[in-house]
Amino acid sequence: MATRIIGTGSATPAHVVTNSDLEGFLDTSDTWIRERTGIGSRHAATTETTTSLAAEACIKALEDAGKKPEDVDLILAATVSPDCTFPCLACQIQAEIGADNATAYDVNAACAGFLFALNSATAYIECGMYKNALIVGAEVLTKIVDWNDRSSCILFGDGAGAAFVEQADTGVVAMEQGANGKKGMVLYRYERPVQNPFCEKADEEVSQGSGFLEMNGQEVFRFAVSQVPESIQKVLVKAGWDISEVDHFVLHQANARIIQSIAKRLGEPEEKFPMNLQKYGNMSSASIPVLLDELNKAGELKRGEKLILSGFGAGLTYGATALIW
Ligand code: COA
Repeated sequence: MATRIIGTGSATPAHVVTNSDLEGFLDTSDTWIRERTGIGSRHAATTETTTSLAAEACIKALEDAGKKPEDVDLILAATVSPDCTFPCLACQIQAEIGADNATAYDVNAACAGFLFALNSATAYIECGMYKNALIVGAEVLTKIVDWNDRSSCILFGDGAGAAFVEQADTGVVAMEQGANGKKGMVLYRYERPVQNPFCEKADEEVSQGSGFLEMNGQEVFRFAVSQVPESIQKVLVKAGWDISEVDHFVLHQANARIIQSIAKRLGEPEEKFPMNLQKYGNMSSASIPVLLDELNKAGELKRGEKLILSGFGAGLTYGATALIW
């Protein structure tokens, strides 16, 4: 028994922010952003929320799979930018789409979140606990980036992607995932500090943190280009596949130079590494499922093809999944 993706969906906010738009209030340029990252524009929520984007992506994934909301056993939502800390995003999606029979909770593995959710759903389905799951990665990162920090805000965008998975004869073949918490502070965002009537420190002595996403870009870059190829090599061994058999490498869309470097390290042609970061920037947990949905809807994925999905991000977290489409 395996777990197979049988439907996908995605949603992005209507408002598009180009690099030239950023030139209006940041000391940056379209040329710098394109050369260093490959990004040309990103979508920014103005009326949309994490829940509304996620629900739209989920409804489309269910339609694509030919399923109804009441058919769903489990909703796993990956996000670092939910509308509320609680209730969790997955419960909000459940209410929004009417998936009344589903269990629902969130996964926080940042940009590897969708992959970790897929792996968790696969484990549940393979052990027989659930027959199917709706997995979604959804982010409104434009509310947590510092729009005065040109080294980080230019990278990120908003969106959501979802996949409906269920028991099947073939599908996920092997999973590889891991974490390195000791390096966690290269990409982080603090929550509210401990501050209550029982603390000795006066209010003004308590560091509030910036409240924004903070990042050491070069450290993250180094981590990605070494860890992702290693994860992919490990999952290939587990799957028993030669790398030349892989039809598509669907990677987290952080930076074109990261993806090109990974392709080079793996000795595989760049054509096997589709990208949509030019249009969307880095949408964290939503990057992989939005790309998957675009490839699916464009007819670029054929049933029976071999795919490697791979993500990395804050935590630090990383992983790869080998699956038959
Ligand atoms: N526009 C213009 N100049 C910028 C800039 C911007 N948006 N952002 C930074 N710079 C400047 C820096 O201030 C620095 O100037 P200096 O040399 O005068 O000090 C110069 O450009 C080079 O900065 P540096 O940080 O060395 O650039 P880089 O080549 O490492 O690229 C990133 C920066 C962020 C694009 C790159 O490190 C990266 O993509 N890292 C991975 C981040 C990531 O993917 N995070 C999410 C993971 S899920």
